[in-house]
Amino acid sequence: MSINPTELNTRTSIRQILRTKRKALTTTFQKEASELLKLRLVNHPKVQSAKTIALYLANDGELDPMPFIKWCWQQGKQVYLPVLHPFCSGHLLFLLFEKNSFMVQNQYGISEPKLEVTKVCPLEQLDLLCTPLVAFDRSGARLGMGGGFYDRTLVNWQTHKMYPIGIAHDCQQIDVVPVEYWDIPLPEIITPTQNHQFQVASSEGIINALRRS
Ligand SMILES: Nc1ncnc2c1ncn2[C@@H]1O[C@H](COP(=O)(O)OP(=O)(O)OP(=O)(O)O)[C@@H](O)[C@H]1O
Ligand SMILES: [Mg+2]
Repeated sequence: MSINPTELNTRTSIRQILRTKRKALTTTFQKEASELLKLRLVNHPKVQSAKTIALYLANDGELDPMPFIKWCWQQGKQVYLPVLHPFCSGHLLFLLFEKNSFMVQNQYGISEPKLEVTKVCPLEQLDLLCTPLVAFDRSGARLGMGGGFYDRTLVNWQTHKMYPIGIAHDCQQIDVVPVEYWDIPLPEIITPTQNHQFQVASSEGIINALRRS
């Protein structure tokens, strides 16, 4: 499907076009894409050293990380999934996800582990956070589903040990994502065919800037 550039003028229409596009991907294509994603992730140095990894369950045609999640379980890595915060609207908690986790549906119809305080991983203890997204561009700008959940989660991510990686189909790349001041760009986005890396401030840079201020 070719995208007319004049249609890409608002965030809402970008979301509509790209969500339709990824939902139209065939089951066979999705399965192959998901295996390619797993191969890229298992060979990634940040993944190899990570003990705690936040992922997501694919929804709405998103690239499915389930084969990678199963590999993480085999390797003894702890997998966490986002759960809507019960009191803090617009925020996420990350809950341990195991083979036998009891799952419930949230208000968006997305499956999430049942909230149990002992299974929450504080953001400071996550090594890697893989975020889904709707669109990205060649600068690492990211557009999500419109809730601002990951923008809130990733505020000042450089001051934690956590490294964020966006996960997307290749067809979710566009020329320019129109960004707002609250949007948090990503240092890396992985698609089935490419690892895109972007120049964003390193944690050392941010920490030094904070020390100087
Ligand atoms: N750090 C923040 N603090 C307060 N509000 C925020 C923050 N980040 C985003 N928002 C609000 O969230 C709303 C949705 O943001 P946006 O359209 O960027 O979502 P998104 O990036 O598509 O979604 P997501 O982050 O869940 O993938 C906006 O109204 C924005 O003001
Ligand atoms: Mg945003």
